[in-house]
Amino acid sequence: MKLKIAVLAGDGIGPEISTQGVAVMSAVCRKFGHEVSYTEALCGAAAIDAVGDPFPADTLKACQEADAVLFSAVGHPKYDNDPAAKVRPEQGLLAMRKQLGLFANIRPVQTFDCLVHKSPLKDELVRGADFVCIRELTGGMYFGEKKEGSDYAHDTCAYTRAEVERILRVAYDYARRRRKRLTVVDKANVLASSRLWRKVAQEMAPEYPDVETDYMYVDNAAMRMIQDPKFFDVMVTENTFGDILTDEGSCITGSMGLLPSASTGESTPVFEPIHGSWPQATGLDIANPLAQILSVAMLFEHFGLTDEGALVRRAVDASLDANVRTPEIQVEGGEKYGTKAVGEWIVRWIEEN
Ligand code: IPM
Ligand code: MG
Repeated sequence: MKLKIAVLAGDGIGPEISTQGVAVMSAVCRKFGHEVSYTEALCGAAAIDAVGDPFPADTLKACQEADAVLFSAVGHPKYDNDPAAKVRPEQGLLAMRKQLGLFANIRPVQTFDCLVHKSPLKDELVRGADFVCIRELTGGMYFGEKKEGSDYAHDTCAYTRAEVERILRVAYDYARRRRKRLTVVDKANVLASSRLWRKVAQEMAPEYPDVETDYMYVDNAAMRMIQDPKFFDVMVTENTFGDILTDEGSCITGSMGLLPSASTGESTPVFEPIHGSWPQATGLDIANPLAQILSVAMLFEHFGLTDEGALVRRAVDASLDANVRTPEIQVEGGEKYGTKAVGEWIVRWIEEN
């Protein structure tokens, strides 16, 4: 297969983990005889510095011309504490999602048995937890009408029936391929937009009689996720709730550095870690490249290349088993590997297995 990949490394630790993701992707492609080519493009603070725009037209073009985007992270501290900044790195990510029509964000929360002890939750709660959050990605408050003044500001959470229906279809299809349980997370006791979500879900549920649908308020879901994460199979929710719940989900697994995601929709799909740019770690060679590398596995799987995806996952498992780990997940007394060393170990394992 021929694969054209747009590589958007972004800011902070982005370039370091991106390099390892690309190296792993190339190793797998060499092994399976796929022809892969990469186009690097600017986004985030790096793009603001270079051309004054966090998602420049050239970057959009590179994404549109690619089969997939391998994205890393955006964000820079100089914007975080400056509410007056005219343009922010995160706008680049939102622009990419909107302009590529990436309405479905798939965020698997998968635990690794060997890392269960790193979770803030008790072993028995975490072991075996395995769910997917399907987050709506191009609607809701992030994109609704806004007003920002010095004494007054508002954001609007708006959804159309069509937007709700298409994300629910993605979620039902996922549930069908898994344990056939879908939890629709909303705040229908308070919010009108949530009531639309619930109404559309109730209308669609009979079309999926093989899937058990349940409904949960988001505050309750946040609690349930730490009380009983194994309750969930597939959850679907609107943009902001999904953003918040997936950060919570990532800490259940023990490290944010482990969770990949896929964003799909109308145009080129994007594969990215769910963590951010971790500016404090920039250049220190300590960031965990596994979320980026597992994003490569999701990329392969998206194109039906399941053996390729499985090989990446086996290589990641092997690195964990061999204790080739970055500092935040290393066992006590174990050698601490850098971003580069972990990536290179995984590439070698792929070449040899
Ligand atoms: C995420 C991030 C982004 C979001 C930020 C960087 C805009 O937190 O992908 O979860 O809120 O969607
Ligand atoms: Mg987030």
